[in-house]
Amino acid sequence: MDRIVYLNGEWLGETEAKVSVFDRGFLFADAIYEVTAVIDGKLIDYPGHAARLKRSLDAMDIPMPVDETELLALHKDLAKRNSLTEGLIYLQISRGSQDRDFVYPKDMRPTFTMFTQAKSVLGNAKWKTGLSLQTVPEGRWSQRQIKTVQLLYSSLKKTEAQREGFDDVLFVEDGSVTEASSANFHIVTKDGTVVTRDLSNALLHGITRGSILDLAKTAGLKAEERSFSVDEAMAASEAFITSATSFVTPVVSIDRTPIGNGAVGPITRQLLDLYINDRLAHGMPIASA
Ligand code: PDD
Repeated sequence: MDRIVYLNGEWLGETEAKVSVFDRGFLFADAIYEVTAVIDGKLIDYPGHAARLKRSLDAMDIPMPVDETELLALHKDLAKRNSLTEGLIYLQISRGSQDRDFVYPKDMRPTFTMFTQAKSVLGNAKWKTGLSLQTVPEGRWSQRQIKTVQLLYSSLKKTEAQREGFDDVLFVEDGSVTEASSANFHIVTKDGTVVTRDLSNALLHGITRGSILDLAKTAGLKAEERSFSVDEAMAASEAFITSATSFVTPVVSIDRTPIGNGAVGPITRQLLDLYINDRLAHGMPIASA
């Protein structure tokens, strides 16, 4: 693999791009990130990701290194330089480098990196089989609405879960589901209502989550935003996760208890199809200026 990556205003071969050992992203996980999908040569849900990037930076007191026009141009340029028509664009902004100190000065220059990952987003095998989730106690910090690179707990727990034969974990706090390791979690009740946790600092405000809620309402489905327990999730007729990388992916079991009849549910499939069709029609073409 020999990608062209972006680093602080330069386009470099992936082995040439180097970040300092004093970077606060490396030393303190003092960095935020975004992941935007590309399908059919189009950026998916780009405005939502760009807006959340700004919110994360503001919450962390990190200045935005480029303006909105340049940010979009960089996404398109990166995809073009790497001939990316399907896959992901990863973007990370750390506070920058300084000698190790818990206290950061006001005038730091952020470290801004971007790279592509080519992959078959639309060929997701789990859309047919669904995912098996394992519940684990919520163990992340309390500001989960900020998309920081502090992903260690999620990474350790997801790895453990996969070694035990699960696909992913479902975080549970005070008896209520928060989200999966890197996706929002939703259920469909027996009366066909889509239920997803309401927004707060307990979970990431997923861009795909917001899009799916809009599409569900437009399609005439009932949708509710509220907390729910693991027991309610296990008794649901369907469950699914949403993220930029997995779109809408069915969940067929939790702690080895089947959800509904243990197969991919019809409302989940309907929302996945609605999302793909809508985004193929309205994604932001990379080829345009
Ligand atoms: N993760 N919750 C968490 C904890 C996440 O990390 C993500 C996305 C989501 C879904 O958000 P969105 O729909 O905006 O992608 C929810 C990305 C894909 C990742 O870490 O790779």
